[in-house]
Amino acid sequence: MTQRLEMYRCEICGNLVQVLLEGAGELVCCGQPMTLLEPKNVENEGLEKHVPVFEKNADGKIKILIGSTPHPMLDEHYIEFIETIPEDKSHMYLEYLKPGDEPCITAENNFKTAVEYCNIHGLWEGKND
Ligand SMILES: [Fe+2]
Repeated sequence: MTQRLEMYRCEICGNLVQVLLEGAGELVCCGQPMTLLEPKNVENEGLEKHVPVFEKNADGKIKILIGSTPHPMLDEHYIEFIETIPEDKSHMYLEYLKPGDEPCITAENNFKTAVEYCNIHGLWEGKND
């Protein structure tokens, strides 16, 4: 049974899918079950930072930065997307990033959670407290 907005990855081909409407079936890609991604939220000492950080802008919007020290945005190691979701999961906002971009997005200030996907270190989550 899947749940709304869960993300699943194929460990063979790298397909990454997000559930829009939940169902009872198992998600399969390349002939094997896909892996449910559980976002990490605890940084390791001394490595680059991944947990999304929320900053309030003067115009009332929020800036979501990856992370407390900006994450690298190199061809071989970068943030592929940032997605932010309100508490009731009624909608979501996702922006794709590419090497050379700043590791941040700006969004309306009704979001409580953001996730980001690093091409090497996977899925991470931060809260807007
Ligand atoms: Fe990373």
